[in-house]
Amino acid sequence: LILPRLYHERVVDHYNNPRNVGSFDKNDPAVGTGLVGAPACGDVMKLQIRIDEETGKINDACFKTFGCGSAIASSSVATEWVKGKQMEEVLDIKNTEIAKHLSLPPVKLHCSMLAEDAIKAAVKDYNSKHAKSGANTEAAT
Ligand code: FES
Ligand code: FES
Repeated sequence: LILPRLYHERVVDHYNNPRNVGSFDKNDPAVGTGLVGAPACGDVMKLQIRIDEETGKINDACFKTFGCGSAIASSSVATEWVKGKQMEEVLDIKNTEIAKHLSLPPVKLHCSMLAEDAIKAAVKDYNSKHAKSGANTEAAT
């Protein structure tokens, strides 16, 4: 597939060979699911993380994105970046870092925003699952 040259080669690479496409069972207690949409264009991104309950580390991640090439590339990068990190660490991943990594043009910034939001939503989902089973632990956002 040929994309216009205005896209950075990393976008084309992640678009043609997206990493970690797939789904986990959203009812699995070790899984956090983030499902977010971009009002600007109607694109939807689902990003899931699997947490090692012993260490609190994200040991696996996957995504499914119904959207443009930049959104697919952003979610692919996001899944690579969250693997092996602690949940609190991934809350620091900024869409601007993803956009910079992929050299997204300004009109495509919201595509990387979708990835940042999806990461946060996945962590929130995981925390809320565990807040329910635990006492009144406040879900970290
Ligand atoms: Fe719909 Fe991005 S605007 S695919
Ligand atoms: Fe809407 Fe990329 S996510 S154009």
